[in-house]
Amino acid sequence: MNIVWFDTLDSTNHYCELLDMNDVEEFTVIAAREQTAGRGQRGNHWVSAVGENLTFSIVLKPVFLPPLRQFELTKAVSLGIVDALEAMGIGGIFIKWPNDIYVGDRKICGTLIANTITGGQFAVAVCGIGLNVNQTKFGPEAGRPTSLRLLTRTKADLNTTLTYLISSIERRYEMLRQNGENEIDKEYLNRLYQCGIAARYRHDGQGITAIITGVSPTGQLMLRTDEGRELSCAMKEIEFL
Ligand code: BTN
Repeated sequence: MNIVWFDTLDSTNHYCELLDMNDVEEFTVIAAREQTAGRGQRGNHWVSAVGENLTFSIVLKPVFLPPLRQFELTKAVSLGIVDALEAMGIGGIFIKWPNDIYVGDRKICGTLIANTITGGQFAVAVCGIGLNVNQTKFGPEAGRPTSLRLLTRTKADLNTTLTYLISSIERRYEMLRQNGENEIDKEYLNRLYQCGIAARYRHDGQGITAIITGVSPTGQLMLRTDEGRELSCAMKEIEFL
């Protein structure tokens, strides 16, 4: 792995977008102590206290993965993060579909993956990851956050944590490359937040009660409503309440 640190970037994902990927090796990591325009899911901003957390992007070239199976990469990266946190002694870790990492009911890590398909082939995936490490006070925009420090009561070294995280993601990525997707599917499902539990969601502008039953091969969230209707939802179609 090749980690390049910057003091300030607008967004590590945006920085990667501007690179000529022919010149960039797989597992190059762009990390920033500060992001001035961090990007989140659903067009949100990702806000992170300067120098306290990890905000970085990993460049991957998953040419071995057919584009129709690109959601497998999301699963592998999520599980890599889970593995690292678990090895740091954190319990009760869930993956909130599609790829937020939760500890109990609180978010510790967000991921934004941008895939490039060229000539029908998976060419590049920029995996942007924001992990709350040493921040203990959050603004209202953060929802219900937590951090490593809040959970372990110890300050973590950012560089060590980053190296650890990337090694774990690398292991899951290798597993995927070596046809380990059945195992990855199984473990992802086992970690899925609110899977099999009746909970409230917003769908088509309406509040519904439904049970998550799984995730389709293309990454849609599958649910069964309390009225027995089966739903298959893309990100914009469903919201956790
Ligand atoms: C989310 O909304 O949960 C996704 C957050 C992803 C944030 C990371 S921080 C590093 C990378 N660069 C960005 O601009 N966003 C991602």
